[in-house]
Amino acid sequence: MARKFFVGGNFKMNGTLSSIKEIVENLNKSELDSNVEVVVSPPSLYLLPTREHLRKEIEVAAQNVFDKPNGAFTGEISVSQLKDSNITWTILGHSERRTILGESDEVVSTKTKYATDNGLGVIWCCGESLEEREAGNTISVITKQLDSLKSKNPDWSKIVIAYEPIWAIGTGKVATTQQAQDVHKAIRDWLKGVSDKVSDETRILYGGSVNESNCGELSKQPDIDGFLVGGASLKPAFVKIINCHQ
Ligand code: G3P
Repeated sequence: MARKFFVGGNFKMNGTLSSIKEIVENLNKSELDSNVEVVVSPPSLYLLPTREHLRKEIEVAAQNVFDKPNGAFTGEISVSQLKDSNITWTILGHSERRTILGESDEVVSTKTKYATDNGLGVIWCCGESLEEREAGNTISVITKQLDSLKSKNPDWSKIVIAYEPIWAIGTGKVATTQQAQDVHKAIRDWLKGVSDKVSDETRILYGGSVNESNCGELSKQPDIDGFLVGGASLKPAFVKIINCHQ
């Protein structure tokens, strides 16, 4: 089956009301490939104004969500609050949350299970550090992250996987097309252990220093179904990345 190309923009903890307004206006006036699913993820403070002003066919994602319906969880946002605000996606398991905020595989998997069971789309991130790659452990690290997710039996139809090698994030050091394709293929093969249908239908995105110059080649790889873009999603060139898939 043909998987719809997917491009996510992860603004991380960047932007102001006025700079995000500019990004939204630029996306609103640009011609975008209608065969591409586009999702942008501003900081939580800016989710509502982004949703309100952004053209409707572009969806909006939170950068994190909690796994309880409501209550005394200071600083957290719930799935139902996101859905109430027409925020239909969340990123989970980004390496910055895993490494800086100490989120374990168990925490990420539990949150992913809760979010997908309650109807939120999840851009679920995985990836290895430079040390792990150099030790030849890339596939085993990713397999461990995937095994943890599988153990929770999430709704795979609500999940998009983002492979983001940590050494390529914000460093300008993009994985070669072959390095990315090899890992994406390994993830696709692993997904067969869930089911052939899940393997066939799940989008696997690449993230890590994607820009308007390298996206074309990467997008031609058979198992690269889109991108999760950080720095370049804050720039007008994000439109070129959205439109790069031939
Ligand atoms: O989630 C996107 C990401 O971590 C990649 O960031 O700035 O290298 O495109 P960047």
